[in-house]
Parts: sequence; C-alpha cells; structure tokens
Amino acid sequence: MKRGNFVTFEGCEGVGKSTQLKLLKEYAEQNGIEIIFTREPGGTSVSEQIRNVILDVNNTSMVAECESLLYAAARAQLIKEIILPALEAGKTVVCDRYIDSSFAYQAYGRNLGFELVARFNSYALSDCMPDVTILLDMRPEDNFRKKKGKIIDDRMENESLEFHDKVYDGFTAVADKFPERIVKIKPTGDKLLTHRLVIEALKTRGIL
Ligand code: TYD
Repeated sequence: MKRGNFVTFEGCEGVGKSTQLKLLKEYAEQNGIEIIFTREPGGTSVSEQIRNVILDVNNTSMVAECESLLYAAARAQLIKEIILPALEAGKTVVCDRYIDSSFAYQAYGRNLGFELVARFNSYALSDCMPDVTILLDMRPEDNFRKKKGKIIDDRMENESLEFHDKVYDGFTAVADKFPERIVKIKPTGDKLLTHRLVIEALKTRGIL
C-alpha cells in the first residue's frame, strides 16, 4: 500500500486559516476525495487535554521549555494514534498546524531557538514530516482578536502584537529553510481566490 500524503496548514493568528480549511473540506466532499482532517494541539482525547493545559490563561507561570515540550507531547500522541495509521492506510491527512508552528511560536516567538525545538520534536515526530505545507503568508493584523469576534480565552492569543510579529518572522525563516516543502500563499482579501491558489498548489504537488 502506497503511503498517503501528509499536508499541513500554517500561519499567524487571524489570517484566514480556518476559512481555508473549511473551503478545502467542502472541495474534497464535492469532488469525492477522502481526506482525514485533524488539528494541533489536539486531535485526540489525550492531546485535547494537553491543549487545555497549554492554552489555559491561568497558567501564567508556564516556562517556554514546558510549553514547547507539551506541544511536542500532544504531537507525539496525535502522530501515533491518528496520523501514521491513516498515512499507512494510504489516506491523505491534512493537519491544522504542526511542527512549523513550534518553530515559529516556540523557537522564534519564545526565543528557544531552532535547534532546541528541533531536538524536543525529534522525540515526538517518529520521522513524520509533512510532504507539503501551505503557509498563509501574512502578518497578524492588530485587530485579529476583534476579527475573531470572541473573548480571548487562550494564552497564546493573549500575547502581545510584538510576540505575534516575531512569530511571523519565524514562519518566514522556516519557509526559507524548507523551500521545497513549504508553499507560501499570500491571502488576498478574496477568500475564494485564496482557496483557488491553495487548490492549485495542492494539485501541482500531486496531492489532489
Ligand atoms: P488555536 O485556537 O488552534 O489557534 P488557531 O485557530 O490560530 O490555529 O490555538 C492554537 C495556538 O497554539 C495558536 O496560538 C498557535 C499555538 N501553537 C504553538 O504555539 N505551537 C505549536 O506547536 C502549535 C501546534 C500551536
């Protein structure tokens, strides 16, 4: 059985990642393409519990190393429980955020550095790297919180705009490091146009 394709979606807060994933899901349904959608941190019962600890606004004392290891722990569970079995069964898996978020948020945003975060994740990954990563390449807007139209109840979103700007620089650096794997797409104001760019990129790389 040929191993399935593994695709991840990445980007800063409020750049329309959820909308693009929803549009991709609809596209797959309409075209009879089977895709397993999952998300990080989360996607399994254990990983969702870890997610709650990571994002809990009351955990103000959490150090960056602990945060990074918790993301890696949630990832290890998701990989072994969901992602690898699906890929081994020949299915396509699309994950909302993955290792590049750890590089952008923990290595760059939290200043842990690329090497340390890569080392933490080497235990978690079981060599399971994405075949293609779609990076929605846009700086977070200062109104991203308002745009989401909800009360902030998440420790990462609560961070300053300076932090989220550093995260953007992190994504840019990681895209430069892995140019073969990471496809940068600039979201336009038109979500359907962006969707077409996503579909085109996935078709070009033989995913769809
Ligand atoms: P979520 O509500 O899923 O954010 P979004 O809708 O923007 O994808 O929350 C996940 C948060 O965790 C988000 O702020 C990004 C952050 N994150 C990391 O800092 N490191 C990681 O490795 C991952 C997967 C996510």
